[in-house]
This record gives sequence, structure tokens and C-alpha cells, in this order.
Amino acid sequence: MRDMNSACVDLIYLDPPFNSNRHYEAPIGSKAAGAAFKDAWTLDDVDVCEHGELADRNPAAYSVIEAARQAYGKGMQSYLIFMAVRLLEMQRILKPTGSMYLHCDPTASHYLKLLMDGIFGHNSFKNEIVWSYRRWPSRSHNFQTMHDVILFYTGIANHTFNVSYEPPSESYLKRFKGKTQVLDPETRTRKIVVDKPTKGLPMRDVWEISILAGSSKERLGYPTQKPLALLDRIIKASSDAGDMVLDPFCGCATALVAADRLGRQWAGIDLSPLAIKLVNDRIAEDRGLWGGPTALNAPPNRTDLGHLPSYRTHRHRLYGQQEGICAGCDTHFPFRVMEVDHILPRTRGGTVMGPDPSQSHWLSSLAHGGAQTIPITCNCSAQVATVARAARPWLNGRQHRQLVANTIVLK
Ligand SMILES: C[S@@+](CC[C@H](N)C(=O)[O-])C[C@H]1O[C@@H](n2cnc3c(N)ncnc32)[C@H](O)[C@@H]1O
Repeated sequence: MRDMNSACVDLIYLDPPFNSNRHYEAPIGSKAAGAAFKDAWTLDDVDVCEHGELADRNPAAYSVIEAARQAYGKGMQSYLIFMAVRLLEMQRILKPTGSMYLHCDPTASHYLKLLMDGIFGHNSFKNEIVWSYRRWPSRSHNFQTMHDVILFYTGIANHTFNVSYEPPSESYLKRFKGKTQVLDPETRTRKIVVDKPTKGLPMRDVWEISILAGSSKERLGYPTQKPLALLDRIIKASSDAGDMVLDPFCGCATALVAADRLGRQWAGIDLSPLAIKLVNDRIAEDRGLWGGPTALNAPPNRTDLGHLPSYRTHRHRLYGQQEGICAGCDTHFPFRVMEVDHILPRTRGGTVMGPDPSQSHWLSSLAHGGAQTIPITCNCSAQVATVARAARPWLNGRQHRQLVANTIVLK
């Protein structure tokens, strides 16, 4: 997501791990055999820089995570750090007119709601959708848990929303003989019946949709696979033909197939190395004879940063903006010892020994992304952490690890 342009997606549906403390695996012999993912969290599973990044980028999210640590423990804290850094990116790439559906369950739904309020703003919250289903009951001393939660948020501008209807109740049909009851346009208080067949009841926020039965044709054996009917409803409601739909935890491509069928553009991301094959196979099978090309496997490249300013010009500007004060040790230092150039190879005037020319873009793109947030430092001991933390939002994982490694080599 860090390599995707800002404001480029109309609809995001995400069905991430739920913090269920389980390990999922597709059964041998199923179409998804080999697919597996772990859904148990400790601080070892998250990048510590990400925690620091949150404190800078979204203090509200940071506070929510701290509260979750105290109320629930480190497992929830780790899970929420993992989610928060990704939700921040989703907010960046979502168009202001876009919508986002976060699928979760009661294990973490209330913490995720707070995170989402902190990141998107509570005014962007639209619904807590309850997806209710029936399954074989389990032995328990409490009520059977048979629902998931889907948090629906939108961007800050007018969002697409296509109203759908559910069938009217038996009693309504009997009483009004299938006709439409409306508010009287004159009095605006009385209800009248007009001679028009009823469309039904505008869809409520409790959805009764069956989970995939063991014998369902749709079932691929992918753990946690969701029904197409659920995604069909979401995509129809919050996008139009041609819009871009993203599923950043796409699994066996349920959202992507639903989007493809409805004529939307789509993109999926998944950690599993099997995902690309599963997505391609499922979409190709779904399209049948009319197949055509399906997915491009290449990761995206940001093109919305425009012309990157030259490193030399920028160096001076950064120094000036910070008035020559080191962001690490807080003391004034001369320009000649300014330490941002460990990001650049020696061949380009920096101090990195390695010949990787791609590194020369880093500072420029960091600075371009938000020059004021890039700290300049002298050669003090606080600089590794300071630069690494500030650079995190602008680099992908590989670049960031390399940056930290290069910085440490220099010390
Ligand atoms: C609940 S499943 C999604 C199921 C999907 N909605 C479907 O119907 O097939 C969660 C998915 O997230 C993926 N995943 C786990 N951690 C991830 C990460 N850090 N980045 C991307 N995908 C991840 C897993 O491989 C798994 O496919």
C-alpha cells in the first residue's frame, strides 16, 4: 500500500486476521491446499518502529492501543499496532468520496472501532453491520456467537451509496397488499398508501446471509472464505461500474470475484505466496470462456509524487527549516556535519558505501512526502532511532530495513 498513489481507491473491503488466537490451514486436497495463516499476536510479530510511527502520525490511535494494552494485554496491543499502521495507509489511498468496510468479530471490534474513529474521524462512521449466520452450535456456557461485525466508514466528501431493499414482512404484504406506503407529501406526518408495488424495506444493518456450507459449490477450502453474496451486497452499495475496489487481505479472492462480476476494477493484496495463483485461477474460472487477462503481478509504483526535488537544494532547506538544531540530541550543529546523507551512496555525495543507486531517491522522496517531518541530525547517538522513525511512513519494508542497516553500519 505504501507504493500506491494517494486517493486512488473507491472502495476498500478488508477481512484481516481477527486476533482469534488460532492458526488456519486449508485442508489437503482442497483447491486452496497449502494456504495458511497465523492469527495469534505478540510484540515479536510487529515492527517496533511501527509503534513509534503511530505516536507521531496519529496520537489518538496510539492512545487507543495503549488503553487496549492495559485493558486486554500485549496480544491485543500487538494486533492493534499491526492494524493501525495499515489502516493509516488505507485512509491515505482511499478517495475522499470512497468507502471502507472493515470486517472483524467481537474479539476486537470495539477496539477497532476506536482506532477507526481516531484515524478516519467519528463523523465518517456510517454503520456497524451485523452479519448474522447459523452454524453448528458449539458447547458453551454463554449464548452462541453467530455473527461478525463489519464497520462501515466513508471519506470526507459525498460518498457513493446505492440503496438496496430487502423483502417486506409478511404482515406488511398482507396489510398493504404489496403496495407502497409513503409519507403524505402534503402533511409530512401522515402515512398514505400509493398504488405502486413496494420495493421492500431499505436494507437494515443486520444481514442474514448463510455462511458457506461444507457442500457449497463456492467453497474452495480456503480458511475463513466469505460468501460472494456478502461481498456482492457491499460492492453494489458503495461503488459503481468502473470504480476501483481494493481488498488488502484478499485470501482466495472473494471480494475480487464479486467486483469483477459487477464490472469494477480491482486489486488484492495478501501475505500468502499462494494468493496470486488462487486469485488468477479463481477469476479465470469465474470468467469462463470469456476469460481475458486477469491479474498483473507487479507491485505498484507511486506516480503521484511528481518531480522530486534535488537532494542538494533540499539539504539546505531542511537545515534551514530546523534552524540547524539536531532532532536527536537537540543541540546546534554546523551544516557540514549534517547527517541525512547516510541515505545516499558515496558516488552521489553521501556516505553510504553500497553502490545501490536507488537509494539516492530516498531522501528526495522522503522530503517530498513531507519535508517538515524529516528530522536532520548531527552524528549523535540518537540519530538512528530518530531518522528511522521519521522515515518509516515514506519507505516500504525493504527500503526501511536497508535504511536502518545503513545507518547502523555508519555508527
Ligand atoms: C480472513 S482471511 C481473508 C479471507 C477472504 N476474505 C476470503 O474470502 O477469501 C485473512 C487473509 O489475510 C492474509 N494476511 C494475514 N496477514 C497479512 C498481512 N500482514 N498482509 C497481507 N495479508 C495478510 C491471510 O493470508 C489471509 O488470506
